[in-house]
Amino acid sequence: MPREVMSSDSAFQAWADLRMRRIQALIDAHLPLQAAASPALAEAMHYAAALGGKRIRPLLVWAAGECFDADTQAMDAAACAVELVHAYSLVHDDLPCMDNDVLRRGRPTAHIKFGEAAALLAGDALQARAFEVLTSNPQIPSSVQARLCALLATAAGVSGMAGGQALDLAATGRHLDVEALSDMHRRKTGALLKASLLMGLACVEPGHLQIDEHSRAAAMLGHYADAIGLAFQVVDDVLDASADSATLGKTAGKDAAQHKATFVTLLGLQAAQDLARQLLGQALQALDALPPARRLRAEPLAELARRIVIRSH
Ligand code: IPE
Ligand code: IPE
Ligand code: MG
Ligand code: MG
Ligand code: MG
Repeated sequence: MPREVMSSDSAFQAWADLRMRRIQALIDAHLPLQAAASPALAEAMHYAAALGGKRIRPLLVWAAGECFDADTQAMDAAACAVELVHAYSLVHDDLPCMDNDVLRRGRPTAHIKFGEAAALLAGDALQARAFEVLTSNPQIPSSVQARLCALLATAAGVSGMAGGQALDLAATGRHLDVEALSDMHRRKTGALLKASLLMGLACVEPGHLQIDEHSRAAAMLGHYADAIGLAFQVVDDVLDASADSATLGKTAGKDAAQHKATFVTLLGLQAAQDLARQLLGQALQALDALPPARRLRAEPLAELARRIVIRSH
């Protein structure tokens, strides 16, 4: 491997390791087991959110925010909140009434471990906790808190993740064309990834960026997000069809078994992989719109895009 690739790879790894430790500490701090009215519910919430996962969404918050000198405390809150909403979405996605899955992050799914009612409530309470996290630090300006809440709520709701999940269930056993499938993927998975990036930008102190610089940043992040948001779910579909459960930490082959509409069923494995590579190219191209000084600081965004597309789980 050429030297410069190794050194940039290890620089990214050091960047990511630090933030992986940070998100773990934030989640542990915001999901205290002992303080809850129901320790059993608190345990289920902690189980669902604190034990593993790639933490892609928090990493995207930091990667985007740091390009634009965002406030550290606001980024901490945003990173934690988006991961709590993501964890809730997985708990509900795995329920018997949805994907009926028994394995998540290498462990029994929340409803297998704690029962269906506790898993349902843990998901509800994780979502609510996310908004408490966004609004509980008085050091974060209230206008920033409000913007973060709006971005996360929109991404999680009827036009975003929850709406996409409804489309996913409605499409089971049916044929969707590329347009409809892309729309479903953009909502169920892309919306929260895009929100992570825009939340990073929303953590910039009001007035720090000129209005036109802010709109160029939002447009650039939007283009990057459109590409990686779709690529992420295309790769998830590819891995479901091609990897094994031990590597994935979740049940492989579920999409075909449950007659889900995916890019693999629509295009085949090779074309789905090609599409993901093409989307990676688009994401990297979007970063070129940054002025040179900021482009240098966007290397974590570039590396995260590569790792979203070229991954084993
Ligand atoms: C899985 O998300 C669900 C999808 C949106 C495809 P991740 O692949 O980010 O799951 P974790 O957090 O790493 O477990
Ligand atoms: C889930 O998509 C997307 C959300 C949780 C919003 P999948 O159903 O494909 O996710 P996995 O494969 O179970 O992680
Ligand atoms: Mg699903
Ligand atoms: Mg699923
Ligand atoms: Mg999947």
